[in-house]
Amino acid sequence: MNEIDKIREKYIKLVEKAKDESSLEIVRISLLGKKGDVTIRMRKLGQMDTQERLLIGPKLNSLKDDLLEAIKVRKEILSDEALNIRLESEREDLSKPSRPMQSGSIHPISQVTDEVIAIFSDLGFSVAEGPQIESDWYNFDSLNIPVDHPARQEFDTFYIQSDAGGGGEMNVLRTHTSPVQIRHMEESGVPCRIIAPGRVFRSDYDQTHTPMFHQVEGLVIDTDISMANLKWVLQEFCGAFFEVDDVELRFRSSHFPFTEPSAEVDIRCSWEGNKLIIGKGKDWMEILGSGMVHPNVLKCAGVDPSVYQGFAFGVGIDRIAMLKYGIPDLRSFFESDLRWLKHYGFSHNNIPTIHGGISQ
Ligand code: DAH
Repeated sequence: MNEIDKIREKYIKLVEKAKDESSLEIVRISLLGKKGDVTIRMRKLGQMDTQERLLIGPKLNSLKDDLLEAIKVRKEILSDEALNIRLESEREDLSKPSRPMQSGSIHPISQVTDEVIAIFSDLGFSVAEGPQIESDWYNFDSLNIPVDHPARQEFDTFYIQSDAGGGGEMNVLRTHTSPVQIRHMEESGVPCRIIAPGRVFRSDYDQTHTPMFHQVEGLVIDTDISMANLKWVLQEFCGAFFEVDDVELRFRSSHFPFTEPSAEVDIRCSWEGNKLIIGKGKDWMEILGSGMVHPNVLKCAGVDPSVYQGFAFGVGIDRIAMLKYGIPDLRSFFESDLRWLKHYGFSHNNIPTIHGGISQ
């Protein structure tokens, strides 16, 4: 056997013995790398005379082709084997139990806000928004509450510096959603029919007060709006929200600087032990403040009070959530206790709609 055949035989065996792709690569380098057995011999061809080159050259070329082919075939076999091993070891065992899944829940405040929006959307209201950091003007003055007005003291306002240097005017964390009335009329004009749900802030803390809570403001302005419209809208809202037919409301004369006349609204209810029954009984529960928008408020928003008039109302979202879902302590809303959230939270599938029912 000549030298070239010996090399062929030796390397074919080595290729077939290679156990994985990296040992096959080592064999390939020892053949065809810079100092490989075939490479060195190929290099020597240049120094041979023509006759010898014509004899050895084709033999070396066919040796190289044979070995490359053998390496290629082996490589395919090895990669198939490697894939089979992986497929075997990575196989999913479908009979195993699945991992436990934690599902979150919708916070009652979010749910009740969605319920309120669904009901008022059905009555033709759209949703407006305003900033939580307000100027004195929007939170107080424009709502007919001048600096010396006693109502300013009733609000327990959080004041904040309007710039880092401490100069300039003081801003406030809005104490109610009423400033959205002015902002909306300024931006979008009248007539209008909006609600404005959102966060409000007052420095107060006990079972029924937290420094941050939620309100929804309502505002309807046109040329022919009266207290009768206010009464009907609130009646419709309360009936749909508390899910009672023929809900009975009581309008109690009151005072708010931004409405004239003003009324606080109570809903008929009764107590069975600790449980509140809305809609029937001998008791009354206050649920909101309302009235006809004061002419000064319309003027501040650039609306002519001799042509336009309308009503406004403000409801505590947290308060009606507590009443509807029997939640006794307001502070628990904001403590992020997972056990509480699990108990009072709502499924994300429970989307309030008028046609599907406000709460299911
Ligand atoms: N802004 C009032 C508050 O926070 C609630 C309110 C009362 C809003 C009467 C109104 C209204 O729009 O007409 O106590």
